[in-house]
Amino acid sequence: MNSPRKELPRKEDKNIMNLHIFDRMESEVRGYIRSFPVIFNQARGSILKDESGREYVDFFSGAGTLNYGHNNPVLKDKVLEYLETDGLIHGLDMATTAKKYFIETFERVILKPRQQEYTLQFTGPTGTNAVEAALKLARQVKGRHNIISFTHGFHGMSGGSLAVTANSKYREAAGMNLSNASFMPFDGYFGPDVNTISYLERMLEDSSSGVDHPAAVIVETVQGEGGVNVASKQWLRDLERVCRQYDMLLIVDDIQVGCGRTGSFFSFESAGIKPDIITLSKSLSGFGLPMSLVLFKPELDVWEPGAHTGTFRGNNLAFVTAAQALESYWMDDQFSNEVARKEELVRNWLENLVQSYPMADLTVRGRGLIQGLVMPNGDGEMAARIARKAFEKGLVIETSGANDEVLKVLPALTIPDEELKRGLEILERSVAEELSSKGVAAHVLKFGGKGQ
Ligand SMILES: Cc1ncc(COP(=O)(O)O)c(C=O)c1O
Repeated sequence: MNSPRKELPRKEDKNIMNLHIFDRMESEVRGYIRSFPVIFNQARGSILKDESGREYVDFFSGAGTLNYGHNNPVLKDKVLEYLETDGLIHGLDMATTAKKYFIETFERVILKPRQQEYTLQFTGPTGTNAVEAALKLARQVKGRHNIISFTHGFHGMSGGSLAVTANSKYREAAGMNLSNASFMPFDGYFGPDVNTISYLERMLEDSSSGVDHPAAVIVETVQGEGGVNVASKQWLRDLERVCRQYDMLLIVDDIQVGCGRTGSFFSFESAGIKPDIITLSKSLSGFGLPMSLVLFKPELDVWEPGAHTGTFRGNNLAFVTAAQALESYWMDDQFSNEVARKEELVRNWLENLVQSYPMADLTVRGRGLIQGLVMPNGDGEMAARIARKAFEKGLVIETSGANDEVLKVLPALTIPDEELKRGLEILERSVAEELSSKGVAAHVLKFGGKGQ
């Protein structure tokens, strides 16, 4: 989703498959195929296989879409069963048994235990469709055009969502004015000593700041594509307070870090805030099937019937797997506790790695099972080299951030410890190779056993 490395497959790479058909027929716009230049043909849990049978540990999870792993057997069984019984696959927004069961399950397993009351809107299948609907609704409710979004924020590639996305490469590709949005500094943007909420407040209170009174604020609690930037709980609470004070709706875009990525189902739960609108997508179906959802407080439901429509709203197969994912993983705290345990394992491992190379100036940041290993001085080339080395050793890992300087550790939440450690070891060896090529020696070298 971020800037995939541009080089095409190098001929001398042993594992390069014949990618000519893609080169010949597919647009230059293709991205991840350049970072991972093999043909994948099987995937189970956290292991991908290419056509030559080579295995890769997956620390990418379809950019956050496969929180429960590839072809999770519990979910796969449900898919097969549903297909076997000729359940509806396509139904526009008509009532179906699969949809009814998903809505009931979502209410029972997610909303009721959290004492949340939200109306559900199923939008087109990808995340950007949910963001478009959320922004449109907020503008309708408040009768204002402007939306506040944040530096390094990422919300999608269509007109409205791109206007609230910060990355210049994506903005330039729009070829038109991206308007009706004002960018404010995210938490920590000016370093730890500057309170960016005070900056926001000042801009809002001053009627001559140049910022039109916004309808809403859209925020990620952890900026996934923007470089694994974590908003503190206090910052989120202060943001909510400012929203209330200035009559702006608070939209939390939980498309990448919702569905358990940070430990709880919604990423904002530990902050104790109550967003007016929430966007979900990616891992919502649990199976990699496209499906998006906007949740909003019932009193915001100003839509006229059919006012925001589309052919693929809701995906019946995805309803089936999504309901099963909720029932399999979210009926109690067990799954959340497991994510917290794995977070500690990953975090300790990465901290140890960083401490092993005090001269290298690496840092770690993240929450839950989205952790970033940050290169010094925004060095995206260095991150790209490490990711390439890791891929050659059998690890799929992606970079993020303004210069792609952050290696993003994003394994499935269900990854077994053994595969998690295997991936971390590959990452560690790749970092070691990169640093030793630069003459940076390890302070303490102890492969295979860190963070346990
Ligand atoms: C936070 C966030 N919002 C929106 C999107 C857009 O989702 P999609 O690519 O499915 O349109 C993404 C995608 O990475 C995302 O991370």
